[in-house]
Amino acid sequence: MSSRDEGLKGISSMGYRAYVGGDGPFWDLIGQKQLDYLVQAGLQPGHVLLDFACGSLRAGRLLIDYLDEGNYLGLDKEIGLIILGVAEELGTEKYLRRRPEFVVSDRFEFERFSKQPDYIIAQSLYTHLTLADIERSLKSLRAWISGDVRFFATFFEAENAHANPATSHSHAHFRHSQADLAAVADRTGWVMTYHGDWNHPRNQMMVEFRPAR
Ligand SMILES: C[S@@+](CC[C@H](N)C(=O)[O-])C[C@H]1O[C@@H](n2cnc3c(N)ncnc32)[C@H](O)[C@@H]1O
Repeated sequence: MSSRDEGLKGISSMGYRAYVGGDGPFWDLIGQKQLDYLVQAGLQPGHVLLDFACGSLRAGRLLIDYLDEGNYLGLDKEIGLIILGVAEELGTEKYLRRRPEFVVSDRFEFERFSKQPDYIIAQSLYTHLTLADIERSLKSLRAWISGDVRFFATFFEAENAHANPATSHSHAHFRHSQADLAAVADRTGWVMTYHGDWNHPRNQMMVEFRPAR
């Protein structure tokens, strides 16, 4: 089965909310937390935001409302999540009026967007990626970004290097140490700052990456 078919099968059997870990109260709670965190970090409606691994628009539906028309960029590897997020959460009328941009890619093809972001959030993406894939994503992002950007990413923290599964998987859990993430950032042209606990209900920690000067 292709990875696309596997994704569609999982989304239809689990439902598009549960597929991204947004079952029950986790849908509204973790959506609102992302918007609040970004606004507190200075996100304004005139900024462009990339929702990296936007899933089924748990935060996207709120961010698309908050940002000016055309200023929301969403990238995910699952087309089914984006289609259902637009149809069921955002609504097609708002999609046409607010004009978010979407890219479907599992290879970090950020250059397919028409514009660059001022802010990026990746909520619970690095909890599902190997360190090698995190490094690939940071390398691709860095090659694309020409100015400054604030990139917030959540992760499950390990004290030391952790024995993770060998390949990235949307439903396997990966833990990483601060030291490993900082080293990967350093190798790919980023400076990482640890923000730590942000009251995530599943205890994901927050880090921020900024382009190294
Ligand atoms: C736990 S969900 C979180 C989704 C969203 N950020 C949210 O807060 O609801 C993880 C997401 O990462 C996406 N994903 C996993 N690997 C990816 C990759 N290599 N490129 C883009 N998206 C990926 C999955 O399809 C899924 O939507």
